[in-house]
Amino acid sequence: MSIIKIENINFKYRGKIPAIQDLNLDIEKNEVIGLIGPNGAGKSTLAKIIAGFIKPNSGKMLLNEIDYKKLSIFNISEQVGYLFQNPDVMLCTSSIYDEVSIGLKRKKVSLENLERITKNILRFLGLYTIQKFHPRRLSQGEKKRVNLGFILASRPKVIILDEPFAGLDYNRKENLLSFLIKLKKDHILILISHDIDSILNFCNRIIILDKGRKIFDDSITKLREDPKRLLEVGLRLPFMLKLFDQLKKFKNFPSLTNYENLIDYLEEKLKNAN
Ligand SMILES: Nc1ncnc2c1ncn2[C@@H]1O[C@H](COP(=O)(O)OP(=O)(O)OP(=O)(O)O)[C@@H](O)[C@H]1O
Ligand SMILES: [Mg+2]
Repeated sequence: MSIIKIENINFKYRGKIPAIQDLNLDIEKNEVIGLIGPNGAGKSTLAKIIAGFIKPNSGKMLLNEIDYKKLSIFNISEQVGYLFQNPDVMLCTSSIYDEVSIGLKRKKVSLENLERITKNILRFLGLYTIQKFHPRRLSQGEKKRVNLGFILASRPKVIILDEPFAGLDYNRKENLLSFLIKLKKDHILILISHDIDSILNFCNRIIILDKGRKIFDDSITKLREDPKRLLEVGLRLPFMLKLFDQLKKFKNFPSLTNYENLIDYLEEKLKNAN
């Protein structure tokens, strides 16, 4: 069963050329999707449509088999969380604790449950000891984690992360990735990023948008067989694809899907060699 089903949607900002054109999409349980494409391709627009912030001009959308038109933005946000490209957009209170718990407060969750859920999320995201800090004084990485905390509090099954790594240094990016890995097992994740190496390493399905149209939607294996799809829309060939392409020249080299597979393979070989 599809969790999200999108049929033939179109969207145009006022007086502009179409931002999303004739787009179809089926998203199922346990998928980790990388949404890529050049600047202006329509990635954030599609994310906002899926999160219910903007409505398509035509076409049909279902969330858990219910028409989006029958759902309020609050109904949708309980099922789909959207981490904005700019973390400041979401910050509206004066402490990290309030930021994470504000959605629960609005939903009138009992104080006891609100405290328990909020504290668990703060611990999970490593924000517990700084929960009283004002969100404005935080670094970009910390702000993104606070935003993620707000989203997790409403327990959505689908989480869309729009450029989550932008502006993060190596350690903070690795740190965010470690949270995303934990979320992978019981969420559908849609990751939008220009960091294609990270996308290829993390996701199992890749969607390429160009000029509002979906021009590729398949597994990483299929993208590796046809890497020209990236070059066609002006994207760089990621290092991982170049490396795996070179490794194919070695006899008996297995087909690998990510760096972790490669490390496991090399470790095994070294063990045998020793
Ligand atoms: N609020 C808006 N009003 C008018 N046009 C907009 C608005 N937001 C986006 N657009 C236009 O819609 C198109 C798609 O933009 P969108 O932000 O979805 O692209 P994107 O793929 O997320 O790009 P980026 O990689 O730069 O974040 C672009 O042509 C953009 O100029
Ligand atoms: Mg964008």
